Amino acid sequence: MTHKIAVVGGDYIGPDVVAEGLKVMHAAGVDFVAEEFELGAQRWKKDGEVLSDETLDELRGFDAIFLGAIGGAQGEVPSGLLERGILLKTRFDLDLYVNLRPFLLPEENIDFLVVRENTEGTYAGEGGFLRKGTPHEIATQGSVNTRKGAERCIRYAFDLAQGRERKHLTLVHKTNVLTFAGDLWQRTFDHVAAEYPDVDTNYQHIDAACIHFVTNPQQYSVIVTDNLFGDILTDLGGAVAGGIGLAASANLNPDRTAPSMFEPVHGSAPDIAGQNKANPVAAILSAAMMLEFLGDNDAGARIRAACEDAPEGSTTEIGDAIAARLSQNANTER
Ligand code: IPM
Ligand code: MN
Repeated sequence: MTHKIAVVGGDYIGPDVVAEGLKVMHAAGVDFVAEEFELGAQRWKKDGEVLSDETLDELRGFDAIFLGAIGGAQGEVPSGLLERGILLKTRFDLDLYVNLRPFLLPEENIDFLVVRENTEGTYAGEGGFLRKGTPHEIATQGSVNTRKGAERCIRYAFDLAQGRERKHLTLVHKTNVLTFAGDLWQRTFDHVAAEYPDVDTNYQHIDAACIHFVTNPQQYSVIVTDNLFGDILTDLGGAVAGGIGLAASANLNPDRTAPSMFEPVHGSAPDIAGQNKANPVAAILSAAMMLEFLGDNDAGARIRAACEDAPEGSTTEIGDAIAARLSQNANTER
């Protein structure tokens, strides 16, 4: 079946890495049609559109969304406008409640996945100002944690851990300080754990997990954590597992009531934009995750294999080399 893919290149290096992802999908012989949506800083500057409800409804009609990176240069766009208005709006409105981020570095025996809750926590946007602009100004930023939200994310993580060779799941939080949110997460985790007696579990505070990520990342199989901890921890994961240029991610609606969104963990990197310098592997591996989620496990696996020991070079050179490996294999198989 032809996959209908909505493509949002976004800002700066975003469109460049996404182009390599599409190139590689073509080389792998994937049957898909892509429709591009111009969203991001340039679009906002042009006509003020961030992401309208109409555009979001159009996106709902696709099988998946392949996104590069969203974010203007410093001072170009009000902080958070595009992040909240595009990325978070899509995550929230399409109910993409799992942010799945794999980290794989076989030469160092690193092979784990982070399941980041993707619709709640401090990202929910609860809070506000009082007496803004006065010397008595107050800003609050709440963390929203629902039982349902934590439970569905934790259950996804248990399922994932159960399906792996190392059936192990680590809960990461800060239960010693965030005694309300942490308590809800811990109780929910313990409750769900009872349904998975074959999955071993442990708990780490977020600060301790940061040390373990650096000193012994081999210990992990699957990690589940809240939105903000997961955001920070997965940048660190990128750094310890070969660099942020390799870190892929999937924003999943596991219930498939709306299309899921696939994007590299890295941002739009205005500092290196236009220099053909960005590593496209994170975007290409995100495309592989997309194909696997769409049921095309074969293409996903072949793309993954073609990314192993990817050569150094420019954005297009790396993309070309990976694409060439795929078309070569296709030829020898015929
Ligand atoms: C990420 C990014 C986003 C996030 C930003 C751009 C809003 O850092 O996907 O990790 O914080 O979730
Ligand atoms: Mn991040």
